[in-house]
Amino acid sequence: MELRLERTSVLDCATDCLVVGITQGDSVEPTGTELDTLIAELIESKDFKPTLGAILVLRHPRDLSAERLILLGLGTADKRTAFAEQEAFIGLGKQLKSLPIREATLDLASLTGGQASSVERLGYGIEWAQYQYTATKAKKDEETTELGALILLGDASHQVALQTGLTLGRGANLTRHLGNLPPNTCTPRYLADQAMAMAERFPTLDCEVFDEDAMTEIGMHCLLSVSKGSDEPARFIILRHQGAKDPNQAPKVLVGKGVTFDTGGISLKPGGGMDEMKFDMCGAATVMGCMQVISELKLEANVIGVIAAVENMPSGRATKPGDVVQTLAGKTVEILNTDAEGRLILCDALTYVERFNPEAVVDIATLTGACLVALGKHNTGLLSTDDALADTLLQIGREVGDPCWRLPIEEPYQKLLDSNFADIANIGGRDAGTITAACFLSRFTENYPWAHLDIAGTAWFSGAAKGATGRPVPLLVNWLKSSA
Ligand code: BES
Ligand code: MN
Ligand code: ZN
Repeated sequence: MELRLERTSVLDCATDCLVVGITQGDSVEPTGTELDTLIAELIESKDFKPTLGAILVLRHPRDLSAERLILLGLGTADKRTAFAEQEAFIGLGKQLKSLPIREATLDLASLTGGQASSVERLGYGIEWAQYQYTATKAKKDEETTELGALILLGDASHQVALQTGLTLGRGANLTRHLGNLPPNTCTPRYLADQAMAMAERFPTLDCEVFDEDAMTEIGMHCLLSVSKGSDEPARFIILRHQGAKDPNQAPKVLVGKGVTFDTGGISLKPGGGMDEMKFDMCGAATVMGCMQVISELKLEANVIGVIAAVENMPSGRATKPGDVVQTLAGKTVEILNTDAEGRLILCDALTYVERFNPEAVVDIATLTGACLVALGKHNTGLLSTDDALADTLLQIGREVGDPCWRLPIEEPYQKLLDSNFADIANIGGRDAGTITAACFLSRFTENYPWAHLDIAGTAWFSGAAKGATGRPVPLLVNWLKSSA
């Protein structure tokens, strides 16, 4: 999307569509011009109530040169969370997408109060709403006019923030798209090809891909045990962004669960809703989205994105409950349930990344149905052995409207993973499923600061709006940008 700065007033700008934000409260003058009289009348007559997310579209608004005026309600400033504001901006984006307009003019002052973080969310919301899945539809949805340009009223200072928001939105849309693609398209090899193609596009980015022979060679037997039942070969993908002035700066590392389809394996899942297990690679897709964003932003930091990509299928060659496998770390695992496969691929990836001497590692995984039960679809589950890292992620999540909520990793839960036949069992029983999954991972992360994001509830919407959300790309990109 093109960005342009214009210095006309809200009254004089001849645009397809002028967008003005209205904060609730007695003495607020949205634009400080004659337009405020019209707005006051609309509120007075109850034609518009500026609650957060409310939208009114007017054609040929009185006294304005604009063809259309959109009023976006912003509620009251003190009650507005970043999350709710983000939703409202996505709603605005959807409205813009539905109108036959090629450009929209944003009155940034009234929409964001001039706050850079809000400007970023505005860009994110507009870009997010432009995404439409058509890849595997013969009949494309009804023709819509593409929103090609955003015009900013006001000073240039917020152009960067808006651009950053748009870039973040495009990254989230990549994450969503990879998640949405059907599992007969989006296989481990497909993810590897996409990573390779991304590295071609950016000079700071390098990609390395291991096939199954290479993984056998290094000793990633635990990861490979998940892939054994599938005819699709596994891939281990490493994307490196070298952006720091000091090439030896310790990198932040992202590790994504990339189960391109999770049938459960021999511990087969029930049939209902199983299609949604195509989203079991959303951790991997998040890594891809983040790597694209930081490459486009030319982030001055070293970041490594790692993806463990497999398909979890039953077959005569598949891993069975009771099988014992050896991890890259040397520990043995008794696989009591082949549906607890995410931790089996992540543990080898988490061991592998030790060699990067990371500043910190965050893994992202649709790891447990229990996380959905505990936290629902609003908060991502956060589990960490490092309080400082956990606090940083909690705070950033709240600030950017991509929240997470911490669950404990503590010694008494670790016991639940005891096995009579191996060093560790891959499940801990019915209780505290999200915690025992993280406990399993924690056995492989002792040599660096580490946090785990369980995105089972937040990575996609079910029901009529079924589709990937692009979370937690905003949280992670903002963490990568932070110095903490
Ligand atoms: N990918 C699933 C977790 C999942 C399930 C995410 C439903 C979102 C919605 C994971 O591989 C899995 O199957 N986990 C099991 C673990 C259990 C066997 C200990 C689960 O949550 O049931
Ligand atoms: Mn599973
Ligand atoms: Zn899974």
